[in-house]
Amino acid sequence: MPAYNNLDTIAAYGDVAAAKPFDVRALSAQRLEQWRVPIAAGLEFCYGAAPVEATHLDAFQQLADEHELIAKYRELLSGAVINTGESRPVLHHLLRGEPIGPVTYRDRDQGAFYRQQREAFAAFATRVRSGQEVGATGKAFRTVVQIGIGGSDLGPRALYLALREWVATQPDATTLHARFVSNVDPDDAAAVLADLDFETTLFVVVSKSGTTQETLTNQQFVAELVQRAGHSFDPLAHTVAVTSQTSPMAKNSGYRAAFYIDDYVGGRYSATSAVGGVILSLALGPQVFERLLAGAAEADAAALEPRVAANAALLDALIGVYLRNVLGLQTTAVLPYSQALSRFPAHLQQLDMESNGKSVNRSGGPVDYETGPIVFGEPGTNGQHSFYQLLHQGTTVVPLQFIGFHTSQRGQDTEFDGSTSQTKLNANLAAQIVAFARGKSDANPNKTFAGGRPSTVIVGRSLTPEALGALLAHYENKVMFQGFTWNVNSFDQEGVQLGKVLTKEILGGNPGAELAAAGRLLGI
Ligand code: F6P
Repeated sequence: MPAYNNLDTIAAYGDVAAAKPFDVRALSAQRLEQWRVPIAAGLEFCYGAAPVEATHLDAFQQLADEHELIAKYRELLSGAVINTGESRPVLHHLLRGEPIGPVTYRDRDQGAFYRQQREAFAAFATRVRSGQEVGATGKAFRTVVQIGIGGSDLGPRALYLALREWVATQPDATTLHARFVSNVDPDDAAAVLADLDFETTLFVVVSKSGTTQETLTNQQFVAELVQRAGHSFDPLAHTVAVTSQTSPMAKNSGYRAAFYIDDYVGGRYSATSAVGGVILSLALGPQVFERLLAGAAEADAAALEPRVAANAALLDALIGVYLRNVLGLQTTAVLPYSQALSRFPAHLQQLDMESNGKSVNRSGGPVDYETGPIVFGEPGTNGQHSFYQLLHQGTTVVPLQFIGFHTSQRGQDTEFDGSTSQTKLNANLAAQIVAFARGKSDANPNKTFAGGRPSTVIVGRSLTPEALGALLAHYENKVMFQGFTWNVNSFDQEGVQLGKVLTKEILGGNPGAELAAAGRLLGI
């Protein structure tokens, strides 16, 4: 079994801390051309503008070997109880493949269970899409609405938005419109549901625990709206449940259908389970979802490569550790130059910050080094006209993770001022990489760009289902490798509990003095 060591002694970093950072102001064409490693599904991780030299790669290798990062990944894939906080294995890789073979846990072949669920919801989606399964009044379903929050919303929503336009360009494309309700703010549900035809709408209520306050409240919101609209059918006849077999939701037999995940798939790692699979299969088609899984499986297999310089997820992870722990940089901006990825940064916020935003190690002791960074982002070029001012000239250096594609999804474009929109989009991305790295001197300090701002870029030909699956899995594996390096449990989330408990105290009507006072500020 691999050993888990803290990074608290300099020796634990190997030579990483000693290596002098590459000054990205000296960025060269040769670095941009050569410092690249394949991810999967045609994606490449390009790190020519990262502050690392060949000596860092050697030091990263030493760190990866000493911390047994690949052995830990293999241990996770074998079904070991890696999530020590919750005493569970971590099995989301089995949703899309068996990178080192099948896993039996508590007498169940887990991969077979996930495949069986996938076949069941694919068959259901096919019946709905072909009009064999119709609503209570005999009309075909046209719209699907997912009700869920956190991992039961962010990943599925980001993936749907990422592929919606791509699917629209496919021959014989059939899409059901998808919408999402997540916030307990009543204005969210009210706005999303306002103009819905309930006779042709199918709801997908997603909650692994089956107890999440926001989700259960929104399910009730829908039921009331359906009844208020004068329909006599039971709203549950238009509702599919996605939950775990042990949850309170699973005990309700009224749902039109139910599909299951289990506790071995964390919420933020569940986009490739029924949590994302049901709505993506309904809205975009089961074949599209299968293609996404194939891309993710390819990235999972590639992440087994022991050579750091040939393993994009591991390399990205260790560059991140270097930026965070050695160079002391606190944030990471994720900047996709693709409107389709508009919600991908929001998904990565949960994936990264809920996983590695920890102050205790896997044994429960305090860590005395920095762990997960603050993650934020927006699509380019929109971000350029917003917060890039700080990124270029602010007093804080923010490492940047760009994402770009050679071609657009729809292929519809215009030529203005000598170039197409797609070319302009990518010219902007290319310009930003160089501008952030090299900067520009000027006699006027206000017009000076210090440069030296590191970035990496993930590039693909186009954002296909396979490329999206690979991108998703790349980040899941990056976060996992960073968690192993920091010796934190990336798979629990105790930090979200306190707020939930205090909310219940306020709602229960018997809060302490401070809670009551805070409640009064909010009109409760
Ligand atoms: O509160 C945090 C959290 O537990 C997330 O980790 C999870 O993705 C989300 O709530 C939703 O949980 P559930 O799917 O059980 O409703």
